[in-house]
Amino acid sequence: MLAKQLYSEILDFLKNCKQLLQINTEIDISKIIPISEKVIDFMMQSNDLNYYAINYYDEHDVFISHSANVAIFAVTIGIGMKYQQKELVNLCSAGIIHDLGIARVPAKASEKTLDKLSKQNNYFFKKHVTLGYDSVIKVNEQIERIAQIASLHHEKYDGSGFPNGLKSDKIDPLGQILSVADAYESLIHPRKQRDGRIPPLGIKHILQNRGNFYSKEILKALLDHISIYPVGVYVKLNSNEIGRVVGLNPDKPLQPIIKILYDSKGVKVKPFEINLGEEIQKKIKTCIPLKNK
Ligand SMILES: [Fe+2]
Repeated sequence: MLAKQLYSEILDFLKNCKQLLQINTEIDISKIIPISEKVIDFMMQSNDLNYYAINYYDEHDVFISHSANVAIFAVTIGIGMKYQQKELVNLCSAGIIHDLGIARVPAKASEKTLDKLSKQNNYFFKKHVTLGYDSVIKVNEQIERIAQIASLHHEKYDGSGFPNGLKSDKIDPLGQILSVADAYESLIHPRKQRDGRIPPLGIKHILQNRGNFYSKEILKALLDHISIYPVGVYVKLNSNEIGRVVGLNPDKPLQPIIKILYDSKGVKVKPFEINLGEEIQKKIKTCIPLKNK
C-alpha cells in the first residue's frame, strides 16, 4: 500500500468521526485498530508517511491533518524507542483520536493558540480533552486504553498541564510521547495567525521553552528519532541543490541522507540519494519552510 493511500485512509476516518460527533455524543472507534495496524506495518518498513506528516496540513480543517500527523510523529518516536507492536497500535490509535473532542467545542475555541483565547474560549478549549475521552464508547479494554492514552496529550511532566495536572511518571510514557508529538506538529505547521517554524526551530523551541514539560528520556527520543532535519523535510544544500530528507544517521543528526530533486541551478533532475554523513563537503544550508497560503 502506498503512503498516500494510507494517509488518506487516516484522514477519511477522522472526517467520518467528526461528522458522527456532530450528531452524536458518543461514537464507536473500533475501526481505528485495523488502520493503525496497517500504519505500524508500513512504518516498520518505510519512512514515507513522514513526508506527509511534515508537509501536509489542511488549512480549512487543521484538526484533521494535525491528528494524522501527530499519530505519525508519535509512532516514529515509539518505533525508535522499540515499543512492541500492540503498544505501537495503541499509540497510533491514540494519536489519531487525541483531538476528537475539538469537534465538540465552539469553533472559536478550537484553534490552539491558547494564550490568545478569551477566558471563556480557553475554558472550552481545555474541555476538549475530557469531551474526547467521553465521546469514545469503550467497547473493550484496548479501546479504553487508547482513550486513556489520548486523554494525556496535554499533561506535562512538571505538572503544569491539563486536565488533571498529572506529574512525571504518573503520566503513562505513551501519553508523554503523544504530548511531545502534539507540540512538535503544532509548531512546524502553519496556523491562522502564523507560519509554521522550520523543523530545526520547532525542536529548538521545545528544548529552550518547554524542556520542563517532558522527561529527559522523551526529549532524547525526540532528538534521536525525529531529529533536527526529520525525514520528509525539504532542504537546500551549500551546493544550492534542493532535496528531501529520506533517512537519518542517528549519530550524525546534522548529516541525514538526502534525495536530490533539483540541481544547483534549480533544474529538476532524476532523483538520486546522497549521504551527508559520507559526503562531508556538502552541508544543509537551510530548510524550505511551509508558508500560509
Ligand atoms: Fe489537544
